[in-house]
Amino acid sequence: MSMEAFANVYEGQWDRSSIDYLALIDQWHVVERSETVLADQPVPLKLLGEKIVLWRSTCGEIQAWQDLCAHRGAPLSLGKVTNCKLVCPYHGWQFDVNGRCVHVPAHPDHVLPSKSAVRCFRVVEKYGFVWVSLGEPESDVPRLPHWSCDSYRKVNAGPYQFNANAMRCLDNFMDASHFPHVHDGINGRADQPDTQIQYEVCEENNELRTTEFRVVQPFADARGVLLEVGYHYYCLSPTVAYSDKQTGENEHWYTWCATTPVDEGQTLVWLVMSFNYGHDIPIEKIHSRQAIVFGEQDRWIVEAQRPKRIPLDLSDEAHVVSDRMGIAYRRWIRRLGEKKKADLALAKVAANRIINFRG
Ligand code: FES
Ligand SMILES: [Fe+2]
Repeated sequence: MSMEAFANVYEGQWDRSSIDYLALIDQWHVVERSETVLADQPVPLKLLGEKIVLWRSTCGEIQAWQDLCAHRGAPLSLGKVTNCKLVCPYHGWQFDVNGRCVHVPAHPDHVLPSKSAVRCFRVVEKYGFVWVSLGEPESDVPRLPHWSCDSYRKVNAGPYQFNANAMRCLDNFMDASHFPHVHDGINGRADQPDTQIQYEVCEENNELRTTEFRVVQPFADARGVLLEVGYHYYCLSPTVAYSDKQTGENEHWYTWCATTPVDEGQTLVWLVMSFNYGHDIPIEKIHSRQAIVFGEQDRWIVEAQRPKRIPLDLSDEAHVVSDRMGIAYRRWIRRLGEKKKADLALAKVAANRIINFRG
């Protein structure tokens, strides 16, 4: 079924023709933790302003659909799961795991209406998260370093709710020169700000990476120790990045961050910390540090930034050497969005040709 065949019920705030929105369509986005989606309980959520229902069939397979019944527009998330089917709460139509209506209780013997299918999105589960794409992703979900490595302890934190744009949130995550000012006493010192944040950015295998730079942190990790640490940043997609913080000769503390673009001005920030030391640090210490750094301090400043959406024209902002990652990130998003816009324009031309040919 063509996209046009589905009802346009978009209630999101984001301009869907904008370059930043288009840059996110073909990406994978974390939307929920896998453990939250139980076999008998549909989960409603929003991604890029689109209402979605997640549900798990009794055989364990997960689905992500537009939260809309093709019959009379009831939200399917109010329905229930029965025998590997999602049942609409209004007139009881039953949809199989492919989104096809397979049963209409009022007319069990009738041929099903041709428009009775649900719009299905791509969905996978990895690293304990549910990932959804509204478009056609060209690659697998972004990697999470050392996920399968037992010598690295993994700790989840978040999601923190930001009333801010997802790319503003990720831009902040990859910006080290705010540490002394926003995270004084933790990730930096306001009275002795770091002056050596100089690095190169390279783009390789569809990722942005920095070379190493060094900063001094009074509360470098959950142990609460003052250290000079080495940082590398890796940006894996417009909404996923991680930092590799070297805290000792062979000690690494990775912070992996995924920002869910719920809508133009709403984001969920999910973290996974992995580290090859400090296996005895109480989890509460890790959580409380991240809750202050991300849930309070970063949230405070990012929610206050204007404009809400990240500027993609470099001439709209002032830049310095320590902003190299932010500059590369803006260029990258712009390129992705412009490519998507060109692809959509080509697809439209091709579709019109078919209509004219048939007509
Ligand atoms: S609205 Fe879903 S079955 Fe009628
Ligand atoms: Fe920060």
